[in-house]
Amino acid sequence: MRAVLVLNGPNLGRLGSREPDVYGTADFEQLAESCQSTGRALGLHVEVRQTDDEAELITWVHEAADAKLPVVLNPAAFTHYSYALRDALAMRTAPLVEVHISNPAARESFRHTSVVAAVADGTIAGFGLLSYQLALQAIAELTAHEQAPAATGAS
Ligand code: DQA
Repeated sequence: MRAVLVLNGPNLGRLGSREPDVYGTADFEQLAESCQSTGRALGLHVEVRQTDDEAELITWVHEAADAKLPVVLNPAAFTHYSYALRDALAMRTAPLVEVHISNPAARESFRHTSVVAAVADGTIAGFGLLSYQLALQAIAELTAHEQAPAATGAS
């Protein structure tokens, strides 16, 4: 089964109580469950992580590059200014889809810039948790014709 990392940046662990008018009422656990059940339906093994720490997020991006893992990434506020995250993502070795719960283009002007978008295959924004489901669907399509990694010991 194809493994996929769903990585989330700062403040997304606070979903549910964080500005529910903007981000909805589902909490992070519900987001993770929704990604996992979407992954199961698509034949993907989905691992969902969240951090408030830029260095930790970059370490996970390096891990994905080394293991050739596709990534669905909500960089949260790092979207708008983290060149360090962008440079880490530029080393990717598998598909990358940027996601946002809200539609940053319809919000404050500082959210209109994504320093990450140019190194992603594409961006899905504005559909709440559905943004993640659509991103996983894109990953499933983008990896559909790949050979599944050989099991250890197989020739
Ligand atoms: C966000 C949008 C960002 O502008 C914001 O900083 C976030 C969440 C979203 O999912 O809508 O933290 O990435």
